[in-house]
Amino acid sequence: MHAFVIRICLTYTLFTVAFAAIPSYIKVCSRKDPEINKCVFNSIEQLRDKLTTGIPELSVPSIEPLTLKHVHLLRGPNGARLDINLTNLQVSGPSTFKLRDLKVDPNNVALTFKISFQKLDFRGKYQINAQILLLKLVGEGGLTGTFLGYDSDCFMKSHKVIRNNQTYVNFEKMKFNIKINKAHLNLDNLFNGDPVLGPASNEVLNANSDLLVDEIKPVLEDALSSLFTEIANKITEAFTYDELFPNN
Ligand SMILES: *[C@@H]1O[C@H](CO)[C@@H](O)[C@H](O)[C@H]1NC(C)=O
Ligand SMILES: *[C@@H]1O[C@H](CO)[C@@H](O)[C@H](O)[C@H]1NC(C)=O
Repeated sequence: MHAFVIRICLTYTLFTVAFAAIPSYIKVCSRKDPEINKCVFNSIEQLRDKLTTGIPELSVPSIEPLTLKHVHLLRGPNGARLDINLTNLQVSGPSTFKLRDLKVDPNNVALTFKISFQKLDFRGKYQINAQILLLKLVGEGGLTGTFLGYDSDCFMKSHKVIRNNQTYVNFEKMKFNIKINKAHLNLDNLFNGDPVLGPASNEVLNANSDLLVDEIKPVLEDALSSLFTEIANKITEAFTYDELFPNN
């Protein structure tokens, strides 16, 4: 019985290893490549289409759109008091990322880079209870908006783990530091869709969009860094360090 179970395990392991060949859409980079920064940059570029749709066979989720299930912004009580819930926020545009200044340390598998997005559009539902300047806003409805000129510095650090006598890379949660140049948003149905008060309130909100952006930024940073870290780890879980960064 015991020997039988072990045999099955061994067969299973052999099978999994046999099937775990690196797929053609993952371009591997030699640890010794003097142009490794360029090589990894090209691998990521080459993965862009796959990331957009997701890679089911590696359980890599799609980055388009990015969904933020629930964001609760709470601030106050003085000056600008904000209580806003955003639900089912669909952010489109993550797949248009522009990568630059990528530096790779292949021995420690650490990466520093900058990611920018020209434009991230979002839509979802809002509930608001806020006092901004003299304006009191209470209500709920649909929300649409855009972040423009979005830029960030990123840092990814990893450690190596041994599994089945093989070395794998595991990334720690990516550090993300976002700058958002400009935000534009529109809350529909404010004051029950009043044609004068609604647009006027949106104007005040947009004139003070820094307030909202400051609040939403950490949530977006967290969501994007969780997503990108998860994607990187799904790939490095499936293949060994030697397979992804061969030593020749
Ligand atoms: C937002 O949701 C929280 C519970 O998650 C609730 O306590 C709060 O009142 C909500 N805010 C608004 C403006 O509806
Ligand atoms: C682990 O790998 C090393 C070198 O590749 C080998 O010498 C050793 O026997 C392996 N151990 C097991 C338990 O497979």
